[in-house]
Amino acid sequence: MSRTVRAYCITAEAVAREKERVGGDLDQMDVANVIQLDKLELRDMGPNDVHVRMLAVSGEHNVDHAALADTIDIADARGGRIYPGNSALGEVIDVGDRVDRFKAGDIVVTHCNGDPDQFGFPLRIWAYDQPESVGWYGEEAVVGDWQLIHAPLDCGLTLWEMAALPLRAPTAYHMWRRALGIYRLKVEREKQAVLNVLGFGGGVSELFLMIAKSEGHNAYFCSGSPDRREALEKLGIVGIDQKQYNRFATRDDVNAFRKEVRNLTNGGDAHIVCDMLRGPVFPAGLAVAARQGVNTSAGWQLSQVVEYNTTVMSVKQVTLDHTHYETIEGCHAATELYGRVFKPTVHKEIYPFEDLGRCFEEMHQNIQTGIPIIRITDDLPDSVKGII
Ligand SMILES: NC(=O)c1ccc[n+]([C@@H]2O[C@H](COP(=O)([O-])OP(=O)(O)OC[C@H]3O[C@@H](n4cnc5c(N)ncnc54)[C@H](OP(=O)(O)O)[C@@H]3O)[C@@H](O)[C@H]2O)c1
Repeated sequence: MSRTVRAYCITAEAVAREKERVGGDLDQMDVANVIQLDKLELRDMGPNDVHVRMLAVSGEHNVDHAALADTIDIADARGGRIYPGNSALGEVIDVGDRVDRFKAGDIVVTHCNGDPDQFGFPLRIWAYDQPESVGWYGEEAVVGDWQLIHAPLDCGLTLWEMAALPLRAPTAYHMWRRALGIYRLKVEREKQAVLNVLGFGGGVSELFLMIAKSEGHNAYFCSGSPDRREALEKLGIVGIDQKQYNRFATRDDVNAFRKEVRNLTNGGDAHIVCDMLRGPVFPAGLAVAARQGVNTSAGWQLSQVVEYNTTVMSVKQVTLDHTHYETIEGCHAATELYGRVFKPTVHKEIYPFEDLGRCFEEMHQNIQTGIPIIRITDDLPDSVKGII
Protein backbone atom coordinates (compact mmCIF):
# COMPACT_ATOMS: atom_id res chain seq x y z
CA MET A 1 0.00 0.00 0.00
CA SER A 2 1.52 3.33 -1.00
CA ARG A 3 2.12 6.06 1.56
CA THR A 4 2.53 9.82 1.21
CA VAL A 5 5.12 11.67 3.32
CA ARG A 6 6.57 15.18 3.47
CA ALA A 7 9.91 15.49 1.65
CA TYR A 8 12.02 18.35 0.29
CA CYS A 9 12.41 18.82 -3.45
CA ILE A 10 14.39 21.06 -5.81
CA THR A 11 12.70 21.93 -9.07
CA ALA A 12 14.28 23.37 -12.20
CA GLU A 13 11.53 25.96 -12.16
CA ALA A 14 12.47 27.13 -8.62
CA VAL A 15 16.17 27.33 -9.61
CA ALA A 16 15.32 29.42 -12.69
CA ARG A 17 12.95 31.69 -10.70
CA GLU A 18 15.57 32.40 -8.02
CA LYS A 19 18.31 32.95 -10.62
CA GLU A 20 16.10 35.45 -12.40
CA ARG A 21 15.33 37.24 -9.11
CA VAL A 22 19.05 37.90 -8.51
CA GLY A 23 19.91 38.63 -12.14
CA GLY A 24 22.06 35.50 -12.46
CA ASP A 25 24.41 36.45 -9.58
CA LEU A 26 24.91 33.10 -7.78
CA ASP A 27 26.35 34.83 -4.70
CA GLN A 28 23.03 36.61 -4.17
CA MET A 29 20.86 33.48 -4.48
CA ASP A 30 18.89 32.47 -1.40
CA VAL A 31 19.02 28.68 -1.35
CA ALA A 32 16.03 28.60 1.01
CA ASN A 33 13.92 29.95 -1.88
CA VAL A 34 14.89 26.95 -4.02
CA ILE A 35 14.52 23.99 -1.63
CA GLN A 36 10.81 23.43 -1.06
CA LEU A 37 8.76 21.15 1.15
CA ASP A 38 6.68 18.82 -1.02
CA LYS A 39 4.55 15.67 -0.75
CA LEU A 40 6.10 12.43 -1.93
CA GLU A 41 4.38 9.11 -2.56
CA LEU A 42 6.68 6.28 -1.44
CA ARG A 43 7.06 3.37 -3.80
CA ASP A 44 5.59 0.02 -2.84
CA MET A 45 7.90 -2.24 -0.83
CA GLY A 46 9.67 -4.99 -2.77
CA PRO A 47 11.09 -8.19 -1.22
CA ASN A 48 14.59 -6.64 -0.83
CA ASP A 49 13.38 -3.27 0.41
CA VAL A 50 13.50 -1.60 3.81
CA HIS A 51 11.04 1.03 5.02
CA VAL A 52 12.92 3.63 7.09
CA ARG A 53 11.67 6.48 9.28
CA MET A 54 14.23 9.30 9.13
CA LEU A 55 15.55 10.63 12.45
CA ALA A 56 18.34 13.02 11.45
CA VAL A 57 20.17 14.00 8.26
CA SER A 58 23.25 16.09 7.52
CA GLY A 59 23.39 19.10 5.22
CA GLU A 60 25.58 18.22 2.25
CA HIS A 61 27.20 20.48 -0.29
CA ASN A 62 25.81 18.59 -3.29
CA VAL A 63 22.42 20.08 -2.37
CA ASP A 64 23.96 23.57 -2.56
CA HIS A 65 25.34 22.65 -6.00
CA ALA A 66 21.88 21.37 -7.05
CA ALA A 67 20.13 24.52 -5.79
CA LEU A 68 22.61 26.88 -7.47
CA ALA A 69 22.92 24.70 -10.59
CA ASP A 70 26.56 25.84 -10.56
CA THR A 71 28.10 22.62 -11.89
CA ILE A 72 25.15 21.23 -13.85
CA ASP A 73 21.45 21.98 -13.49
CA ILE A 74 20.78 18.55 -12.04
CA ALA A 75 17.05 19.16 -11.37
CA ASP A 76 16.59 20.08 -15.02
CA ALA A 77 18.72 17.15 -16.23
CA ARG A 78 16.61 14.78 -14.13
CA GLY A 79 13.31 15.87 -15.67
CA GLY A 80 12.63 19.04 -13.68
CA ARG A 81 12.43 17.79 -10.08
CA ILE A 82 14.70 15.94 -7.65
CA TYR A 83 14.23 14.83 -4.06
CA PRO A 84 17.69 15.52 -2.55
CA GLY A 85 19.35 14.15 0.57
CA ASN A 86 22.01 11.44 0.47
CA SER A 87 23.25 11.29 4.05
CA ALA A 88 20.77 10.07 6.63
CA LEU A 89 20.24 8.19 9.87
CA GLY A 90 16.93 6.44 10.50
CA GLU A 91 14.93 3.71 12.21
CA VAL A 92 13.78 0.61 10.33
CA ILE A 93 9.98 0.33 10.38
CA ASP A 94 9.48 -2.68 8.13
CA VAL A 95 11.47 -5.03 5.90
CA GLY A 96 10.68 -7.02 2.74
CA ASP A 97 10.38 -10.84 2.71
CA ARG A 98 13.95 -11.43 1.56
CA VAL A 99 15.69 -9.00 3.93
CA ASP A 100 17.59 -10.75 6.70
CA ARG A 101 20.24 -8.13 7.62
CA PHE A 102 17.74 -5.71 9.19
CA LYS A 103 14.62 -5.83 11.34
CA ALA A 104 12.10 -3.30 12.62
CA GLY A 105 13.64 -1.08 15.31
CA ASP A 106 17.22 -1.22 13.94
CA ILE A 107 19.00 2.14 13.64
CA VAL A 108 20.73 2.50 10.29
CA VAL A 109 22.83 4.91 8.25
CA THR A 110 22.80 5.27 4.49
CA HIS A 111 25.53 5.41 1.87
CA CYS A 112 25.13 7.20 -1.45
CA ASN A 113 27.04 4.97 -3.89
CA GLY A 114 24.17 4.86 -6.39
CA ASP A 115 25.65 2.67 -9.09
CA PRO A 116 28.93 0.81 -8.48
CA ASP A 117 31.24 0.27 -11.47
CA GLN A 118 33.14 -3.01 -12.00
CA PHE A 119 35.56 -2.02 -9.22
CA GLY A 120 32.84 -0.91 -6.81
CA PHE A 121 33.29 2.87 -7.27
CA PRO A 122 30.17 4.92 -8.03
CA LEU A 123 29.28 5.79 -11.58
CA ARG A 124 26.42 7.83 -10.15
CA ILE A 125 25.50 9.26 -6.75
CA TRP A 126 22.18 8.47 -5.09
CA ALA A 127 19.74 11.39 -4.95
CA TYR A 128 21.93 13.36 -7.32
CA ASP A 129 22.70 12.00 -10.78
CA GLN A 130 21.48 8.41 -10.36
CA PRO A 131 18.27 8.32 -12.47
CA GLU A 132 15.02 7.77 -10.53
CA SER A 133 16.85 7.96 -7.19
CA VAL A 134 14.77 9.52 -4.41
CA GLY A 135 16.64 11.16 -1.53
CA TRP A 136 16.22 11.22 2.20
CA TYR A 137 15.37 14.77 3.23
CA GLY A 138 11.90 13.45 4.02
CA GLU A 139 9.95 11.84 6.84
CA GLU A 140 10.22 8.28 5.52
CA ALA A 141 11.78 6.39 2.63
CA VAL A 142 11.72 2.98 0.97
CA VAL A 143 15.27 1.87 0.07
CA GLY A 144 17.05 -1.27 -1.07
CA ASP A 145 18.69 -3.19 1.79
CA TRP A 146 22.09 -2.77 -0.01
CA GLN A 147 21.88 0.97 0.74
CA LEU A 148 21.91 0.60 4.52
CA ILE A 149 24.53 0.01 7.20
CA HIS A 150 23.88 -0.62 10.90
CA ALA A 151 24.62 2.51 12.94
CA PRO A 152 27.24 1.72 15.64
CA LEU A 153 25.17 3.05 18.54
CA ASP A 154 27.83 2.19 21.14
CA CYS A 155 30.68 4.04 19.35
CA GLY A 156 30.64 6.94 21.80
CA LEU A 157 29.20 9.53 19.40
CA THR A 158 25.91 11.34 19.89
CA LEU A 159 23.04 10.74 17.47
CA TRP A 160 23.81 14.10 15.82
CA GLU A 161 27.51 13.30 15.43
CA MET A 162 26.66 9.97 13.83
CA ALA A 163 24.22 11.71 11.48
CA ALA A 164 27.10 13.96 10.34
CA LEU A 165 29.06 11.05 8.88
CA PRO A 166 27.25 8.86 6.30
CA LEU A 167 28.46 10.86 3.27
CA ARG A 168 31.53 12.71 4.50
CA ALA A 169 33.23 9.83 6.40
CA PRO A 170 33.35 7.38 3.45
CA THR A 171 34.57 10.21 1.21
CA ALA A 172 37.41 11.03 3.61
CA TYR A 173 38.18 7.35 4.18
CA HIS A 174 38.43 6.69 0.46
CA MET A 175 40.60 9.75 -0.18
CA TRP A 176 42.94 8.84 2.67
CA ARG A 177 43.48 5.22 1.69
CA ARG A 178 44.18 6.23 -1.90
CA ALA A 179 46.44 9.19 -1.11
CA LEU A 180 48.45 7.17 1.39
CA GLY A 181 48.64 4.22 -1.02
CA ILE A 182 49.95 6.47 -3.79
CA TYR A 183 52.51 8.11 -1.50
CA ARG A 184 53.66 4.72 -0.22
CA LEU A 185 54.17 3.48 -3.77
CA LYS A 186 56.78 6.22 -4.07
CA VAL A 187 58.22 6.43 -0.54
CA GLU A 188 58.17 3.29 1.59
CA ARG A 189 57.49 3.35 5.28
CA GLU A 190 61.05 2.41 6.24
CA LYS A 191 62.29 5.55 4.47
CA GLN A 192 59.79 7.85 6.15
CA ALA A 193 57.25 6.77 8.76
CA VAL A 194 55.66 10.08 9.78
CA LEU A 195 54.04 12.26 7.13
CA ASN A 196 52.86 15.88 7.14
CA VAL A 197 49.20 15.93 6.09
CA LEU A 198 47.36 19.18 5.33
CA GLY A 199 43.67 19.77 4.63
CA PHE A 200 41.69 22.89 3.67
CA GLY A 201 38.43 23.83 5.44
CA GLY A 202 35.37 21.61 5.25
CA GLY A 203 33.87 18.54 6.90
CA VAL A 204 35.55 16.00 4.61
CA SER A 205 39.00 17.51 5.21
CA GLU A 206 38.42 17.47 8.97
CA LEU A 207 37.65 13.74 8.88
CA PHE A 208 40.60 13.11 6.55
CA LEU A 209 42.92 14.76 9.07
CA MET A 210 41.41 12.75 11.94
CA ILE A 211 42.46 9.53 10.18
CA ALA A 212 45.94 10.90 9.50
CA LYS A 213 46.35 11.99 13.13
CA SER A 214 45.04 8.68 14.48
CA GLU A 215 47.67 6.86 12.40
CA GLY A 216 50.50 8.89 13.95
CA HIS A 217 51.07 11.55 11.29
CA ASN A 218 51.35 15.34 11.71
CA ALA A 219 48.08 17.00 10.68
CA TYR A 220 47.41 20.65 9.74
CA PHE A 221 43.98 22.20 9.15
CA CYS A 222 43.92 25.40 7.08
CA SER A 223 40.50 26.96 7.59
CA GLY A 224 38.90 30.39 7.85
CA SER A 225 36.67 29.28 10.73
CA PRO A 226 38.05 29.78 14.26
CA ASP A 227 35.40 27.42 15.71
CA ARG A 228 36.33 24.61 13.37
CA ARG A 229 40.07 25.13 13.91
CA GLU A 230 39.58 25.11 17.68
CA ALA A 231 37.61 21.83 17.55
CA LEU A 232 40.41 20.14 15.61
CA GLU A 233 43.15 21.59 17.80
CA LYS A 234 41.57 19.63 20.69
CA LEU A 235 42.47 16.49 18.72
CA GLY A 236 46.08 17.64 18.26
CA ILE A 237 45.53 18.88 14.70
CA VAL A 238 47.38 22.17 14.14
CA GLY A 239 45.19 25.05 12.89
CA ILE A 240 46.28 27.53 10.22
CA ASP A 241 44.09 30.61 9.69
CA GLN A 242 43.29 30.73 5.98
CA LYS A 243 42.04 34.32 6.27
CA GLN A 244 45.50 35.39 7.43
CA TYR A 245 46.50 34.59 3.83
CA ASN A 246 43.44 36.38 2.36
CA ARG A 247 42.16 33.03 1.11
CA PHE A 248 45.12 33.03 -1.34
CA ALA A 249 43.89 36.00 -3.32
CA THR A 250 47.40 36.87 -4.59
CA ARG A 251 50.73 35.17 -5.30
CA ASP A 252 52.19 36.94 -2.24
CA ASP A 253 49.51 35.35 -0.03
CA VAL A 254 50.39 31.90 -1.40
CA ASN A 255 54.10 32.56 -0.82
CA ALA A 256 53.47 33.65 2.77
CA PHE A 257 51.38 30.50 3.34
CA ARG A 258 54.16 28.35 1.87
CA LYS A 259 56.63 29.91 4.29
CA GLU A 260 54.36 29.17 7.26
CA VAL A 261 53.86 25.53 6.24
CA ARG A 262 57.60 25.11 5.70
CA ASN A 263 58.20 26.54 9.14
CA LEU A 264 55.53 24.40 10.84
CA THR A 265 56.81 21.24 9.18
CA ASN A 266 60.50 21.95 9.93
CA GLY A 267 61.22 22.24 6.25
CA GLY A 268 59.44 19.00 5.33
CA ASP A 269 56.40 20.57 3.56
CA ALA A 270 53.15 18.63 3.08
CA HIS A 271 53.42 15.04 1.86
CA ILE A 272 49.65 14.70 1.44
CA VAL A 273 47.19 17.55 0.81
CA CYS A 274 43.39 17.25 0.87
CA ASP A 275 41.94 20.03 -1.31
CA MET A 276 38.11 19.60 -1.94
CA LEU A 277 37.66 23.23 -2.98
CA ARG A 278 39.96 23.96 -5.95
CA GLY A 279 39.82 27.63 -7.05
CA PRO A 280 42.48 29.66 -5.20
CA VAL A 281 43.03 26.78 -2.76
CA PHE A 282 44.52 24.60 -5.51
CA PRO A 283 47.73 26.57 -6.20
CA ALA A 284 48.19 27.02 -2.44
CA GLY A 285 47.97 23.22 -2.00
CA LEU A 286 50.51 22.63 -4.76
CA ALA A 287 52.85 25.31 -3.39
CA VAL A 288 53.18 23.48 -0.07
CA ALA A 289 53.53 20.00 -1.61
CA ALA A 290 56.69 18.12 -0.64
CA ARG A 291 58.71 16.16 -3.21
CA GLN A 292 56.77 12.98 -4.08
CA GLY A 293 53.67 14.63 -2.56
CA VAL A 294 50.06 13.70 -3.29
CA ASN A 295 47.26 16.24 -3.77
CA THR A 296 43.83 14.63 -3.51
CA SER A 297 40.34 16.04 -4.05
CA ALA A 298 36.75 14.87 -4.39
CA GLY A 299 35.33 18.39 -4.69
CA TRP A 300 35.31 21.46 -6.91
CA GLN A 301 33.40 23.92 -4.75
CA LEU A 302 35.31 27.02 -5.90
CA SER A 303 36.10 25.96 -9.49
CA GLN A 304 35.87 22.97 -11.79
CA VAL A 305 38.94 23.79 -13.86
CA VAL A 306 42.50 24.07 -12.58
CA GLU A 307 45.82 25.01 -14.13
CA TYR A 308 49.31 23.95 -13.07
CA ASN A 309 52.88 23.86 -14.25
CA THR A 310 53.42 20.30 -15.38
CA THR A 311 57.21 20.72 -15.50
CA VAL A 312 57.43 21.81 -11.88
CA MET A 313 55.09 19.01 -10.78
CA SER A 314 57.11 16.47 -12.77
CA VAL A 315 60.38 17.59 -11.27
CA LYS A 316 58.87 17.43 -7.77
CA GLN A 317 57.11 14.13 -8.73
CA VAL A 318 53.81 15.36 -7.30
CA THR A 319 50.71 13.25 -7.99
CA LEU A 320 47.23 14.76 -8.41
CA ASP A 321 44.51 12.28 -7.54
CA HIS A 322 40.83 12.74 -8.39
CA THR A 323 38.39 10.74 -6.29
CA HIS A 324 34.66 10.61 -5.86
CA TYR A 325 33.04 8.33 -3.28
CA GLU A 326 33.74 4.98 -1.65
CA THR A 327 32.81 1.45 -2.67
CA ILE A 328 29.99 -0.06 -0.61
CA GLU A 329 32.51 -2.23 1.27
CA GLY A 330 34.56 0.92 1.93
CA CYS A 331 31.47 2.65 3.34
CA HIS A 332 31.06 -0.26 5.79
CA ALA A 333 34.74 0.00 6.76
CA ALA A 334 34.47 3.78 7.27
CA THR A 335 31.46 3.21 9.56
CA GLU A 336 33.65 1.01 11.79
CA LEU A 337 35.72 4.12 12.53
CA TYR A 338 32.81 6.19 13.92
CA GLY A 339 33.83 7.41 17.38
CA ARG A 340 37.25 5.68 17.31
CA VAL A 341 38.66 7.99 14.66
CA PHE A 342 35.81 10.15 13.37
CA LYS A 343 34.73 12.68 15.99
CA PRO A 344 32.97 15.24 13.81
CA THR A 345 32.33 18.84 14.74
CA VAL A 346 28.62 19.52 14.51
CA HIS A 347 27.17 23.01 13.96
CA LYS A 348 25.88 24.47 17.25
CA GLU A 349 22.23 24.58 16.13
CA ILE A 350 20.39 21.34 15.33
CA TYR A 351 17.87 22.55 12.74
CA PRO A 352 14.20 21.48 12.90
CA PHE A 353 12.82 19.73 9.79
CA GLU A 354 10.80 22.80 8.83
CA ASP A 355 14.01 24.92 8.76
CA LEU A 356 15.97 22.74 6.34
CA GLY A 357 15.96 25.52 3.74
CA ARG A 358 17.47 27.98 6.24
CA CYS A 359 20.14 25.41 7.09
CA PHE A 360 21.18 25.32 3.44
CA GLU A 361 21.18 29.07 3.09
CA GLU A 362 23.47 29.28 6.16
CA MET A 363 25.71 26.62 4.64
CA HIS A 364 25.80 28.67 1.45
CA GLN A 365 26.83 31.74 3.47
CA ASN A 366 29.57 29.68 5.16
CA ILE A 367 28.57 30.76 8.68
CA GLN A 368 28.16 27.35 10.31
CA THR A 369 30.52 26.23 13.06
CA GLY A 370 30.53 22.56 12.06
CA ILE A 371 28.64 20.00 9.97
CA PRO A 372 24.95 20.99 9.95
CA ILE A 373 22.36 18.48 11.17
CA ILE A 374 18.60 18.55 10.61
CA ARG A 375 16.39 16.71 13.07
CA ILE A 376 13.56 15.14 11.08
CA THR A 377 11.32 14.08 13.96
CA ASP A 378 10.77 14.88 17.64
CA ASP A 379 9.58 11.33 18.19
CA LEU A 380 12.88 9.51 18.74
CA PRO A 381 12.96 5.79 19.56
CA ASP A 382 14.06 4.69 23.07
CA SER A 383 17.21 3.08 21.60
CA VAL A 384 18.73 6.52 20.84
CA LYS A 385 17.32 8.61 23.68
CA GLY A 386 20.52 8.10 25.70
CA ILE A 387 22.77 9.55 22.98
CA ILE A 388 21.13 12.85 22.07
N1 LIG B 1 32.73 13.58 -4.42
C1 LIG B 1 32.18 13.35 -3.25
O1 LIG B 1 31.76 12.25 -2.96
C2 LIG B 1 32.07 14.48 -2.29
C3 LIG B 1 31.74 14.20 -0.96
C4 LIG B 1 31.67 15.24 -0.05
C5 LIG B 1 31.90 16.55 -0.47
N2 LIG B 1 32.19 16.80 -1.78
C6 LIG B 1 32.42 18.17 -2.23
O2 LIG B 1 33.55 18.72 -1.57
C7 LIG B 1 33.35 20.10 -1.24
C8 LIG B 1 33.56 20.31 0.24
O3 LIG B 1 32.63 19.50 0.94
P1 LIG B 1 32.64 19.39 2.53
O4 LIG B 1 31.47 18.56 2.88
O5 LIG B 1 33.98 19.01 3.02
O6 LIG B 1 32.45 20.91 2.91
P2 LIG B 1 31.66 21.61 4.09
O7 LIG B 1 31.78 20.84 5.35
O8 LIG B 1 30.29 21.95 3.63
O9 LIG B 1 32.53 22.91 4.21
C9 LIG B 1 32.77 23.74 3.11
C10 LIG B 1 34.01 24.53 3.41
O10 LIG B 1 34.26 25.38 2.32
C11 LIG B 1 35.13 26.37 2.77
N3 LIG B 1 34.90 27.59 2.00
C12 LIG B 1 33.74 28.19 1.74
N4 LIG B 1 33.96 29.28 0.96
C13 LIG B 1 35.30 29.35 0.78
C14 LIG B 1 36.15 30.22 0.07
N5 LIG B 1 35.68 31.26 -0.60
N6 LIG B 1 37.47 29.98 0.06
C15 LIG B 1 37.97 28.92 0.73
N7 LIG B 1 37.20 28.06 1.43
C16 LIG B 1 35.89 28.28 1.44
C17 LIG B 1 34.81 26.60 4.22
O11 LIG B 1 36.05 26.51 4.85
P3 LIG B 1 36.54 27.56 5.95
O12 LIG B 1 36.52 26.76 7.21
O13 LIG B 1 37.91 27.89 5.50
O14 LIG B 1 35.62 28.75 5.97
C18 LIG B 1 33.88 25.46 4.60
O15 LIG B 1 34.30 24.81 5.77
C19 LIG B 1 31.94 20.43 -1.76
O16 LIG B 1 32.05 21.00 -3.03
C20 LIG B 1 31.25 19.09 -1.86
O17 LIG B 1 30.25 19.04 -2.83
C21 LIG B 1 32.30 15.79 -2.68
